[in-house]
Amino acid sequence: MSSQPFDDIAQLTLSNVPSEHMSIAQHSDGRWEDCVLKPYAPIEMQPLALGLHYAQIVFEGMKAYRYDNGDVAVFRIEKHHERFNKSLARMCMPEIPLSHFRDGIVDLVRADRSWVPPGPDSAFYIRPFVIANEERMGIKVSDDYLFMVVGGPFRPLYARPLRVRMERVFARAVAGGTGFAKCAGNYAAAMLPTQLAQQDGFDQVIWTDAKEHRVVEESGTMNVMFVIDGVIVTPALTDTILDGVTRDSVLTIARDLGLPISERMITVDDLAEGLRAGRVTEAFGVGTAAAVAPIGRIAIDTEEFALPVLPTDTMFTLKNHLNAIRYGQAPDVHGWMTVI
Ligand SMILES: Cc1ncc(COP(=O)(O)O)c(C=O)c1O
Repeated sequence: MSSQPFDDIAQLTLSNVPSEHMSIAQHSDGRWEDCVLKPYAPIEMQPLALGLHYAQIVFEGMKAYRYDNGDVAVFRIEKHHERFNKSLARMCMPEIPLSHFRDGIVDLVRADRSWVPPGPDSAFYIRPFVIANEERMGIKVSDDYLFMVVGGPFRPLYARPLRVRMERVFARAVAGGTGFAKCAGNYAAAMLPTQLAQQDGFDQVIWTDAKEHRVVEESGTMNVMFVIDGVIVTPALTDTILDGVTRDSVLTIARDLGLPISERMITVDDLAEGLRAGRVTEAFGVGTAAAVAPIGRIAIDTEEFALPVLPTDTMFTLKNHLNAIRYGQAPDVHGWMTVI
């Protein structure tokens, strides 16, 4: 792969070019070995590695940012680690100690710090993952696992306001299922519905509950937020929604700023009603990839609502405050940043 990190940085989006190193640790005999840093290279797996067949695969997506003073810092390692372990537990995979998780990330970012692009909105994307590695034909919980951390420079995915469709046929997650886990299977199952929406000219779907498609859940790789009657409203967390680190950060910042927030159930009917009446003034997605992404159009069944995106919108206040912390321009009052 390229060893010229910034030659073509303007062309990069999410992790198309991996950086030069990777961290790797093995789990066998009931314990995690220490992480080792290696040059980024293909890994050998047996064709019968259980993860390749039965999807015992869990991952995280997080970022390191370059401060204006040149320092490099990783955003919310502990919160991502907490979610990683919840996902691992749901997939019957061994939890990983915070020290291993942190070492894998810090070793990689330290070795490849020249790959961390300066802002605004650019970052170094970090992908920790665990895959079941026992060689076996029949289904069982694997005894062996690989933990790896890879990464690469990142430019924002969505430059213009999104056009999204309320999904009324397919489901991403069911109650009692795996929606709250960041496991590979969730993403495979979301591909066809997303592709169909994209064929109809939409950027993404907004998922609704699997049973009746009446309750708003989240978007492709983002949690969703709305401003309704001046209040920042977002679906309350359930086991069908990923507990987004950006969601939590944005809500924390809103609280810090004294902005009204409401985490509650939002029905599609209420949202449509609010859009018709002009009470819904903003919609946006929040996630590691896009940070805060304005939604400019929402299709609900046969209606499509336009939401003008204004520079004075609350979402930009939230985004600016979040970015100020992530790029070291504002005090890290919540202890979110790990300077490498
Ligand atoms: C399904 C889903 N929902 C929400 C999010 C947002 O989560 P985070 O803010 O932790 O990136 C993501 C991205 O990781 C996602 O894949």
